[in-house]
Amino acid sequence: MEGDRSRSGEGHAAGKVILLGEHAVVYGAPGIAAGIERGADAVAMPIDGPSTLELGGKIVRAGDESSDLGRAFAALLGAVELPPLARSGVRVEAKSDLAPGGGLGCSAALGVAIGRAVEGLGDGPSRGDSRDASRAKDPALVRANAWEGVFHGNPSGIDTAAAYSGTFMRFTKAEGAQPIGCPCDLFLAVGHSGSSASTKEMVEGVARIRARRPEQIEQFLEAVTSLVKNAELALAAGDVRAVGQFLDLNQMLLAGLLLSTERIEEMCRIARAEGAVGAKLTGSGGGGSVIALVASPEVGGDEALANRIVEAWKRAGFSAFATRVRGTQSIARERDPR
Ligand code: PMV
Repeated sequence: MEGDRSRSGEGHAAGKVILLGEHAVVYGAPGIAAGIERGADAVAMPIDGPSTLELGGKIVRAGDESSDLGRAFAALLGAVELPPLARSGVRVEAKSDLAPGGGLGCSAALGVAIGRAVEGLGDGPSRGDSRDASRAKDPALVRANAWEGVFHGNPSGIDTAAAYSGTFMRFTKAEGAQPIGCPCDLFLAVGHSGSSASTKEMVEGVARIRARRPEQIEQFLEAVTSLVKNAELALAAGDVRAVGQFLDLNQMLLAGLLLSTERIEEMCRIARAEGAVGAKLTGSGGGGSVIALVASPEVGGDEALANRIVEAWKRAGFSAFATRVRGTQSIARERDPR
């Protein structure tokens, strides 16, 4: 069924990288994540009839029990009262340039983009740009969390919070997202290790270690908490080299919980040899993606160096791209170009 395009709502959300703190956030420790340039877009149109979602050439009905997508879409629509225009049915078209299962928050970006598009059919806070991460009660974010719950069981919420905020943020389960002011942009190379692991299974693996050796996880949480605290200070000071060192240390801690793989370690080695100031897995590990941070002598990183790491990874058989996380100076310039 065609929707009424003249009364549509639109939504965009960023993909994410977790700079520090994956897995630790599940147990209440803080993490730092950032939105990247790749992401997801959605448009929602009112229709008379059952609600549908079109994604990647497939159309699913809300509530279709045979697919996670159908169940997630129903959870998203049912999470909060729908705007009046959407109540007789809504048709959503969504797309993302993030690889699913790549650890870059594809499903969270889609959830936030679709949540924003649906809310765009009303007059709520999601109309227009709702990047302000302090608006934790924004119905678009509530919808996205309900959507993520279907895919990931019991997510900490860091993925949707980063997709929502689009820039640097500190995250805890208790307090949600708080923006971190980093003056400069960060340039990253992002590569895929060639295999993907289920986030749910990797989280369960850490829970098993915790059941056997709780003191090991306690030490891990203490170490990550201290890294995050120091990285926050380094980001606020624009000290990219220090942030890189904290990424390396976090990678060692993650490897200690068997979350790294030989290919992830190989990618980290290649990136450091090319000049990265730090490299680590990002997301649940066991496969998925690796990030490498670069810093040129002048503050703010170096796009050319990020591209050189991308090329080195590609030569070694890994797919990769370079991206930028915008700091407060770029965001301020974008909002007020004068
Ligand atoms: O969705 P992923 O693979 O990027 O991992 C999310 C981060 C975890 O800390 C591993 C899980 C969570 O819910 O926070």
